[in-house]
Amino acid sequence: MAAALLEQGEDAFRRLFKYYKRRQPPPDLSGGIVDFSRAQQNCKVLITPLNVTSISDQEARKAGLQPVCKWKAYGLDDYPGFMFISDPFLPGWQRYWAKQCLKIYPRKPNVCNLDLHMSRDETTDLWEQSREQLRLKVPGKREAKSLLEKLRWVTLGYHYNWETKKYSPDHFTAFPTDLAYLSEQVAAACGFQQFKAEAGILNYYHFDSSLGIHVDESEIDCSKPLLSFSFGQSAVFLLGGLKRQDPPLPMFIHSGDIVIMSGRSRLFYHAVPRIVPNPEGRAIPSCLENVMARDSCSADTSYQQSDEGDWEICMKYLQNSRINMTVRQVVGVGQSFPITSETGKVAGSQPYSYHQDAEEDHEHKRQKLETATESP
Ligand code: SIN
Repeated sequence: MAAALLEQGEDAFRRLFKYYKRRQPPPDLSGGIVDFSRAQQNCKVLITPLNVTSISDQEARKAGLQPVCKWKAYGLDDYPGFMFISDPFLPGWQRYWAKQCLKIYPRKPNVCNLDLHMSRDETTDLWEQSREQLRLKVPGKREAKSLLEKLRWVTLGYHYNWETKKYSPDHFTAFPTDLAYLSEQVAAACGFQQFKAEAGILNYYHFDSSLGIHVDESEIDCSKPLLSFSFGQSAVFLLGGLKRQDPPLPMFIHSGDIVIMSGRSRLFYHAVPRIVPNPEGRAIPSCLENVMARDSCSADTSYQQSDEGDWEICMKYLQNSRINMTVRQVVGVGQSFPITSETGKVAGSQPYSYHQDAEEDHEHKRQKLETATESP
């Protein structure tokens, strides 16, 4: 079915996006989608050797990663610069990142979608405001959403302005040191030794969410890779080409997987039309149930073992959700921001965003998510 849609030419990306997004009848997810976690591989998939000495085992461990020699890294024929690393995290570390995304990173001064129509006081600690509601949530029962469940995005470092589609030197707050360290190790392992984590966009998805077709092109230096880390339920990810009409390749992204877009693929169109249950069919994937080894949280790292109470809340959230962290370098060495009158402050009005869920589909019928183009 998906293959037939591709042959029809004319904005094949949009057609496939709509196919995978639709509810009734649901799309066929049983074939034609690259799954890097399965032994049976698509002929486009290439095993990509990494330089195992690019980062030391100790550096990898400090970032919560297995030694590089154990990573399973792939590329794709015809997608130069695209890399896929199948869950290289050490036990317990996926939990750590999921908790950071839910408890720590949404805090001020970071910016989130709720700031656009709520006061600073109301969005000061989404975790505290949501934890009890989430803890008491009965799976499957329709209940009011907690603020954490209404969270769609958080920006870090240089805060991406969704209205102007730009970053500004005037709107920068310290990038989280733990996430910078993880990103810099992953980038180095993939051959980008000088990568600097300067901006992050965290995307929060539920089973009815999608992310429209877009290119990440707002960074001033697009020669640096874009790193993308995913936790929780799985996603169907569509990777197109430089032109909007180029037919995309569908692939699954599972919990712990890392996608790197660099080189020519850095400016390829992509989208997330659908969030799907994890392939194990469990409430949450087993890789998220692992706890951290004692020596991973010793004094040489600033990381703390998740406490069980917090994890209970994260689990409730992740049963229906997926979290994605994208990390970018904005300016290259010797580069500066173009002179502009842009202040970079969050605008009071609702900016155009490519995040959407079923309720918003109804609310913003005319916004046609699937035709959204530019984004970071
Ligand atoms: C993803 O959620 O995997 C993709 C995020 C993005 O394209 O910004």
